[in-house]
Amino acid sequence: MNKAVDPALMQAAEAVGSTTGLTPAQLAAYWLPFTANRQFKKAPRLLTKAAGMYYEDYRGRQILDAVAGLWCVNAGHGRPRITQAIQAQAAEMDFAPPFQMAHPKAFELAERVAQLAPAGMGKVFFANSGSEAVESALKMALAYHRVRGEGTRTRLIGRERGYHGVNFGGISVGGMIGNRKTFGLAVAGVDHLGHTHDPKRNLFSIGQPAHGADRADDLERLVALHDASNIAAVIVEPVAGSTGVLIPPQGYLQRLRELCTKHGILLIFDEVITGFGRTGQPFAAQTFGVVPDMITCAKGLTNGAVPMGAVIVKDEIHDAFMTGPEHLIEFPHGYTYSGHPLACAAGLGTLETYAEDGLLTRAGELQDYFAQAVHSLRGEPHVIDVRNIGLVGGIELAPLPGAPAMRAFNVFLDCYEQGLLIRTTGDTIALSPPLIIERGQIDQIVDMLRGALRRVA
Ligand SMILES: Cc1ncc(COP(=O)(O)O)c(C=O)c1O
Repeated sequence: MNKAVDPALMQAAEAVGSTTGLTPAQLAAYWLPFTANRQFKKAPRLLTKAAGMYYEDYRGRQILDAVAGLWCVNAGHGRPRITQAIQAQAAEMDFAPPFQMAHPKAFELAERVAQLAPAGMGKVFFANSGSEAVESALKMALAYHRVRGEGTRTRLIGRERGYHGVNFGGISVGGMIGNRKTFGLAVAGVDHLGHTHDPKRNLFSIGQPAHGADRADDLERLVALHDASNIAAVIVEPVAGSTGVLIPPQGYLQRLRELCTKHGILLIFDEVITGFGRTGQPFAAQTFGVVPDMITCAKGLTNGAVPMGAVIVKDEIHDAFMTGPEHLIEFPHGYTYSGHPLACAAGLGTLETYAEDGLLTRAGELQDYFAQAVHSLRGEPHVIDVRNIGLVGGIELAPLPGAPAMRAFNVFLDCYEQGLLIRTTGDTIALSPPLIIERGQIDQIVDMLRGALRRVA
């Protein structure tokens, strides 16, 4: 059947087409990522404008953004410095090849990012997304051990309930069932630590849960099984976002660091969502006082305005590559758009905006207020746990019997109709508002959410 005349699409196009001009054929053509496409196309949720804390949809409704777009618009929408930087760069130079060539802004941005990172992490490698940053870091880890003469270290360790993007390396070390079961074997030689979620002991913890530092000892089990001489790296999110907002137990990351150091295993923090102020410091590494060997980041690096990812690397790792004949490429990896001029301009505008507004520490200033607000949802219908750190909140709901993820999705739809954008993963509602949020807007988010929880079945 020709999708252009699908009655459901015709109806939806009539609804949205009057303001957006979208035709049924256009609605049919776009295959949306990580979306329930058939459900979406029956009642499309189309955003057309954004400013500050708000989106505007095609109906002209204001929608309070409780998730910074998708954990990326940390400085709020439409910041003039970022917009102007992108516009000026597009007019001046659209593209410069990144292989054997470069442009000044890539160096400027690398230095600015390195200045924000923990001491000793002075090298920055650019990619175009969180997923690509993860692939770059994993490959860097393998290559690092090889250039040092420890080429047997090829095994990569992830963690259950981890999310590291969607490329083959990322889904292999990741621990999201949906992302793993669909795509076969992916990368071989991967193993996983157990996750840190412990509802028996840590429900409704405010900030870091008290129990579970010992869960890092799971690495000893994997070392005993595979031998450290075969393990290249461990990758974890300091705060796991996409599998339901899991906050690291007190002492867990410290213990993991100790064990990685003991066994010569590189520790990679995937800070795609925690980077750039989300937990109250530029990086979660600083919030938790643990220095990894590499940090992957993306999202907040350009405030979401232009795609960009990066790997921030300890100097000594970079320096290990700088051997051999000088005319040879030391690390055969990179993307056509690594360090793209528009992304670098956006990144520089973003970091200036963060600095001017003091945004990289603002989550720390608001975290107590935010914690109190989200924990006030304890006792509301369906709520079985509330978790928080910085400006991240997770509200876990009891699943509808036989229909996992549906209840949270219904809350999402209800909120959207009220004019609030939240995000759900499984049956957990995730909140990660722009760091410019005011206390009154935190109250508004929680009140709207409370209303939705009381309405949905
Ligand atoms: C921890 C983490 N790593 C990697 C990614 C993938 O980033 P991207 O969607 O930019 O590829 C995400 C995305 O949410 C993430 O949360």
